[in-house]
Amino acid sequence: MSRFFSSRLADLVPYTPGEQPREDGLLKLNTNELPFPPSPRVLSRAQELTRALQLYPDPDCTLLRRELAQAWGLEPEQILCGNGSDEILSFAFQAFCSDDRPALFPDLTYGFYPVFARANGVPWREIPLREDFSVVIDDYRNLEGTVFLANPNAPTGLQLSPGEIEVLVRQDRGRVVVIDEAYVDFSRQSALPLIRHYDNLLVVRTFSKSRALAGARLGFGLGDPALIADLNRVRCSFNPYNVSSPAQALGRAILEEEDSVPLRCGAVVQTREKTVLGLRERGFSVTDSRANFVFAAPPHMGGETLFHALREKGILVRRFDKPRIAEYLRITVGTDAQMDRFFAALDDIGKEAGGL
Ligand SMILES: Cc1ncc(COP(=O)(O)O)c(C=O)c1O
Repeated sequence: MSRFFSSRLADLVPYTPGEQPREDGLLKLNTNELPFPPSPRVLSRAQELTRALQLYPDPDCTLLRRELAQAWGLEPEQILCGNGSDEILSFAFQAFCSDDRPALFPDLTYGFYPVFARANGVPWREIPLREDFSVVIDDYRNLEGTVFLANPNAPTGLQLSPGEIEVLVRQDRGRVVVIDEAYVDFSRQSALPLIRHYDNLLVVRTFSKSRALAGARLGFGLGDPALIADLNRVRCSFNPYNVSSPAQALGRAILEEEDSVPLRCGAVVQTREKTVLGLRERGFSVTDSRANFVFAAPPHMGGETLFHALREKGILVRRFDKPRIAEYLRITVGTDAQMDRFFAALDDIGKEAGGL
């Protein structure tokens, strides 16, 4: 830290991203990307961008928002595009939280939420998940602040129904509720239709997970035009050119194939269910994940030991050194062949250690 660093941020603990390895041959099941590449059509768009690279991008993402609105049954004014959904979330912490309006989120959730709160200088309060890791809507009743819920939650994978989200949104119409749907395409139970009826609901989505576009950085805030205008005010005070031309073009190409999303995500869901079964057969405790990862604790071997043993065998998963979940690993669902490799490694580790 230099002597010039803001005292306001002195105790900032940054978010730790999953390992992005440079070595070949590792099986990367640690950051929840899709195991398939973007389609040839999307890849060919990447090559058409020479001229667009010369110019600043459209700051309003006009065409992308128009086409997205058509695909998702919305108006363009209900959409904000961001450099990944992380950026949208950060704008929401800035726009809708303040000293008298803390951010409210579960104690076990996406690790970036407390970082966003601290970096943006807003207070936050963690609401403990129940023993079984569930979110109970009633725990948020009568709390003043802005609610942030990842749904499905990460890293547990558990999901609330749209009906439960509606109850939360109605609890207090003077409070903004942000539903982070990064993983929603692996469950298809979205709160998006509710934004038409509730001006205090913001839904956040991303093309990083289900659309195989994590590298392009494309995320969306979806809500009442007044909420979107607030977020735009923050965005344009920070970086009006927040979505690059290549990202906008790739996003539009993806939308031409919107029909294929359920199919591709369905394949991941099938592999997820097989993975859950395989882990349960080996005695793991596994949550009922609705996302493209599973969250599982081995029966005997500690989570940390297993994490390192898998790393030794070239398999990257994620572990969070936090109370209640320290024994759990978050394992991204890969292709069937990748999961076969994962289980073969797991069984080798079990044999070598005399049990998992
Ligand atoms: C719950 C949740 N929300 C948001 C994000 C951010 O996604 P991106 O910034 O790639 O859109 C992630 C990424 O892991 C996540 O797990």
